[in-house]
Amino acid sequence: MLHSTPEVPRQFNGDFSADFLSVEQLTPRDLATLHAEADAFQAVVTQRGRLPLLENSVYGTVFWDSLSTRTKHSFEFAVKRLGAEVVDVLQAVSSSGKGESYESTVEMVDAWMVPGRDALITRHNKAGTVARAAALIDAYVINAGDGTGEHPTQAVLDTKTVRSYSERGLVPPMDEVNFMFFGDLAHSRAANSTAPLLVDMGIRTITLVAPHPGLAAPRELAAKLRRSGATVTETDDFQAAARSAHFIYGMRTQREFIPPEEYSEYVGKCLITPEMMLESQARIMHPLPENEEDLNIHPELRADARCIVKEQAGNGQSTRGAFLALQAGKSIIRAARQYGIELPSHVLQTAGE
Ligand code: NCD
Repeated sequence: MLHSTPEVPRQFNGDFSADFLSVEQLTPRDLATLHAEADAFQAVVTQRGRLPLLENSVYGTVFWDSLSTRTKHSFEFAVKRLGAEVVDVLQAVSSSGKGESYESTVEMVDAWMVPGRDALITRHNKAGTVARAAALIDAYVINAGDGTGEHPTQAVLDTKTVRSYSERGLVPPMDEVNFMFFGDLAHSRAANSTAPLLVDMGIRTITLVAPHPGLAAPRELAAKLRRSGATVTETDDFQAAARSAHFIYGMRTQREFIPPEEYSEYVGKCLITPEMMLESQARIMHPLPENEEDLNIHPELRADARCIVKEQAGNGQSTRGAFLALQAGKSIIRAARQYGIELPSHVLQTAGE
């Protein structure tokens, strides 16, 4: 079962100087700001590599009982490109082997950080734990994955990917886009954060395709999307749904949240094959990783132009960097202009210039 994050902090509403725990904190305008700042950051990366915007900040990373490659390393790339430093507090070398808890570990890291300037980027395998850490510590906390709860920075990069396809005219305007999710909807924090944010961004048609009843979306998720004005269809007919979808968001079975005897029923069920895509022009997205023993995207499709997972993962660096800068009260757009970096015209429009 998915869980919602308890005690959502205030909405940003243009002021990002707060913890980032839930997509509910983002107004549609905040999301547009983040995406435009991310485009500016991408221009910085391509044209200059680095921008010394956060050189006084140090970021701590604590990823507890749950591994991460993309999220953690894209944050690290972004931090370094913005001139800041990261200290990775490894669970294996903290005192957890001596029985130290997650809570006392993050409190210790907080003792080294400066509130308002530094941030803890953290993940935990139990929903609600990251919010509890945020209540305990003074420095900013950024939720990098909270059990089956939320994964807000994943949602920012996913929506960025969709917006850029719409802006480039490669898919219809947002309110005509049909966005389909396929796979383990029951336990995916990525879907739990991305689906509501897509609807906030203006997507009106969401199709939820679960390949097994045990992987179906929790009722609260579909209800939440409907309350926000979306038409939600739930089905197990992949091909019929894929025909009219513009995007298909694949997801792996979240083995870490499922008892082993139950997991074996789901093996092989979340795979998208070329045959299933014969009548579909949809772009294929996936938060990654894939489990090599239980793939989600057939290797032939990975090489297909419809598969956009690499571009999607690339947006992880730019959107996370954009958030870090905004949280510190800085604008990458403004700084990029000072450094003479050329920015796309839609970025300047969003910035009101
Ligand atoms: C996702 C996560 O950890 O929730 N991955 C990620 O952050 N790149 C999705 C997943 O692990 O399936």
